[in-house]
Amino acid sequence: MLEVRVFSGEPRFMNTITSLEEMQKIALELHKKNKSIGFIPTMGALHEGHLQLVRESKKVNDITVASIFINPKQFGPNEDLTKYPRPIEQDKKLLDVKGTDYLFYPNVDEIYPSNFQTSIAVDKVANILEGKSRPGHFDGMATVVLKLFNIISPTNVYFGQKDFQQCIIVRQMIKDLNLQIKFHTVSTVRDPDGLALSSRNIFLNTQEREQALSLYQSLLLAKKLIDDGNKSVELIKKEMKKYLKKYKLIRLDYIEICNPENLSPVKVVSKKAVILIAAFVGKTRLIDNIII
Ligand code: PAJ
Repeated sequence: MLEVRVFSGEPRFMNTITSLEEMQKIALELHKKNKSIGFIPTMGALHEGHLQLVRESKKVNDITVASIFINPKQFGPNEDLTKYPRPIEQDKKLLDVKGTDYLFYPNVDEIYPSNFQTSIAVDKVANILEGKSRPGHFDGMATVVLKLFNIISPTNVYFGQKDFQQCIIVRQMIKDLNLQIKFHTVSTVRDPDGLALSSRNIFLNTQEREQALSLYQSLLLAKKLIDDGNKSVELIKKEMKKYLKKYKLIRLDYIEICNPENLSPVKVVSKKAVILIAAFVGKTRLIDNIII
């Protein structure tokens, strides 16, 4: 049985909106009534990480809107666009139970009509780390995120630290394009054994799932080395690589230690830093990071 929630004295459920025009109209009405809107963009296949973003939004906003849109523009030609999981009914239930007010769930033609021709091009920070391994990914991501921001006109937006570079890029876009939106980063939600939750974890078989844990373990090893007084990035990376070598299903893409404000690489860990890792576990590409 569905749970009935009470909001401003009225019983209500989550509304699913597929029309872009209708979503824009609703957002406009909400602003006229001076309601704050918290927004969580997602690609669905929701897990506790996504739901944590909903919780954070509900703490401070009058209305919480989530979107589910698997954005073709941020997938490379050899990536998992067609395989990306789409458990929409389950996603709707999860969002509803957590008290989401609106789900924006447009189809691809609505977002990218046939004559669509404008894109966001992100410079510098989009060409390193994930951007280097996934050319065009961040331009596609930023384009859809800006479109969603324009459709929903959020007061506050919530993004997960798991996608650290994505956070930096969206924050920069908000600043560069003078968007009147407050950006919030939410800490990475992990399984009890430490694996960062990801929609892609369902692709892992039992053995891969076990070995995937080594990504976070290698980050913890780095943290310990730094806590013990080691400051050389070269040494820390070497130790992480040595540790990961033991796991035969792991194919490392990169480990970088960077300034968490702008992602410029550091040579010596002297103050706050972020350690970022990306690796294939079997055929599944996973990312993780830790702030030191
Ligand atoms: P998606 O991978 O579905 O993630 C949606 C949001 O959930 C992102 O902000 C992501 O960082 C956050 N998230 C994912 N796993 C998390 C975890 N374990 N803990 C906390 N937050 C987590 O990121 C995207 O979609 C897309 O690029 C999108 C922004 C929707 C644009 O298409």
